[in-house]
Amino acid sequence: MMQSFETRIVGFIVVGFFIVFSVFWSFPEESGAAVKCPETKPHRPSNFDSHKATLSKILHSKEFRNASVMKLQAAIRTRTEVYDDDPISVEEDLTYWSKFEKFEQLLKSTFPLFYSKTTLHKVNYHGLVYIWEGSDLYLKPLVLMAHQDTVPVSNITLSQWEHDPFSGDYDGENVYGRGIADCKDQLIGLLEAAEELINNGFSPRRTIIYSFGFDEEVGGPRNKNAEWLEAKYGKDSMYAILDEGGVNLDTIQGVKMSVPGTAEKGYMDLKIILETPGGHSSIPPKHTSIGMIGEMIVELERTEFPTYFTEKNPAFWEYVCVAEHSPDMDSSVKKSILSAGHNQKANEVARKYIDVDLGKGFVVKSTRALDIITGGVKANALPEYVELTVNVRIAMEETVDTVTRRVLATIEPVIDRYHLGLALDLDGRQEIKPRKPAGNCLVKVVQAVPPAPLTPTRGNHWNIFAGTIHHVYEDLVAPDSTGLIVAPGIGSGNTDTKYYWNLTEHIYRYRPGLLPGVYSKEHGINEYIPMDSHLHLIAFYYEYILSVDETDD
Ligand SMILES: *[C@@H]1O[C@H](CO)[C@@H](O)[C@H](O)[C@H]1NC(C)=O
Ligand SMILES: *[C@@H]1O[C@H](CO)[C@@H](O)[C@H](O)[C@H]1NC(C)=O
Ligand SMILES: *[C@@H]1O[C@H](CO)[C@@H](O)[C@H](O)[C@H]1NC(C)=O
Ligand SMILES: [Zn+2]
Repeated sequence: MMQSFETRIVGFIVVGFFIVFSVFWSFPEESGAAVKCPETKPHRPSNFDSHKATLSKILHSKEFRNASVMKLQAAIRTRTEVYDDDPISVEEDLTYWSKFEKFEQLLKSTFPLFYSKTTLHKVNYHGLVYIWEGSDLYLKPLVLMAHQDTVPVSNITLSQWEHDPFSGDYDGENVYGRGIADCKDQLIGLLEAAEELINNGFSPRRTIIYSFGFDEEVGGPRNKNAEWLEAKYGKDSMYAILDEGGVNLDTIQGVKMSVPGTAEKGYMDLKIILETPGGHSSIPPKHTSIGMIGEMIVELERTEFPTYFTEKNPAFWEYVCVAEHSPDMDSSVKKSILSAGHNQKANEVARKYIDVDLGKGFVVKSTRALDIITGGVKANALPEYVELTVNVRIAMEETVDTVTRRVLATIEPVIDRYHLGLALDLDGRQEIKPRKPAGNCLVKVVQAVPPAPLTPTRGNHWNIFAGTIHHVYEDLVAPDSTGLIVAPGIGSGNTDTKYYWNLTEHIYRYRPGLLPGVYSKEHGINEYIPMDSHLHLIAFYYEYILSVDETDD
């Protein structure tokens, strides 16, 4: 995954840096009409009536709610934290990883009907792939995902938890605990929906695959589920994939919105390594390698990546929808957003509005964060080696290559000022400026994932998916309510779906429920979910499975 990039730029870099920092691109000549927010309508399965009572039980029955709380509690109590320095090989330390054995045993005892209808394949020991075979093998399977692992709880902040993070406390309204929002509620909810469907006599035409990784929170290097699926079914073999992410039910500028993620920004870890001759600190040069890298740091923080507002970014449509429907947004900003697709000046206003006024620059540009610095070993010895780690999140309009080139161009004045050599290691080492006695700098890309392919948001796949959100929230949860806008959005982080791109173009990152993740304190202190939210989630999966099962796409 991480090793191969689609193009090699190295040759071009040698030629020189002709990076233009402001963005110019040509707009179509015609001064086209303002774009419109794509509309979606409620969709429900044709056999809805025979499932209405079960959906009502899921959403309203006290007994169901109680049983569901207990399932979530058991999942929280069965701890599955992962750490950055966990052993990469599972095989070499089976005992270490046995917490996932316990978690799987819990699933087995909690969901007997599901286990009776599916075949479980354990991939790389603890990756769980359940296959619920459909009657029509010509239909592409639906893939439902979640991850079993959670981030740890810091001992330092443990005392700030109002509820023990591993007890799964329920106060009649909310369930608390590490991983409840990210994303054990999703994993348990998927299985609860299956259990209810089976209980109600459902058996699928279309195969349904449940795929649960066990190291998502540390980047997923042990996750071989997608590889396994690709080997078994081939490329482009799935109907659609649903995983965590997105924003469900938030009010943005006065508009009730649901924003599933239909793309993800790219990811890159890059090291800037500077090596200079050592020596005694009593006779120092004017600048040490630490001083020089300090100047690079200043340049890197001063030079932001350019902003874009184009249809390559699903958030384009999110903001178009907000602009079209918002009662609060300034009318000139509205106008600019709606004409941003064909008017350069308007596009500039829209970018500035999102970047500066809303402070959401990460939506419209690549970002960089300087995260780790090491260098020097002794007070009386000059530093010979300094290393700076920069994390870059790549906008949809850019690539691993373009952001790397921008970083190189940004530090280049410092390289020249101090007569340093420069090399780039982007999947192979390349000299850019010859080695120099004063010192040598290496820019090394240690990990990179390009931006995710864009999920289509027109056509049947999207209409059924977005339509189910409408139906669950506008007809079931809050009967006869209207005005929910379902618009595509961009994920600024990566989920396990980054391994699944070959399997289908229809990838939805969406966790149904009442709260966007940030308000649920995912990864934070007092992580929780409202129990109502969890019940909505089960109802959503239940309906989505029924609707996908009856379509012939
Ligand atoms: C659920 O019901 C059982 C049995 O009545 C009870 O012991 C338990 O406390 C209830 N749990 C919750 C979360 O209400
Ligand atoms: C946190 O505290 C527990 C219990 O005292 C201990 O077992 C664990 O190693 C500690 N974790 C860290 C990361 O220090
Ligand atoms: C997808 O397919 C390409 C081309 O066959 C392959 O190189 C890659 O490893 C596959 N897997 C992923 C996760 O992209
Ligand atoms: Zn997660």
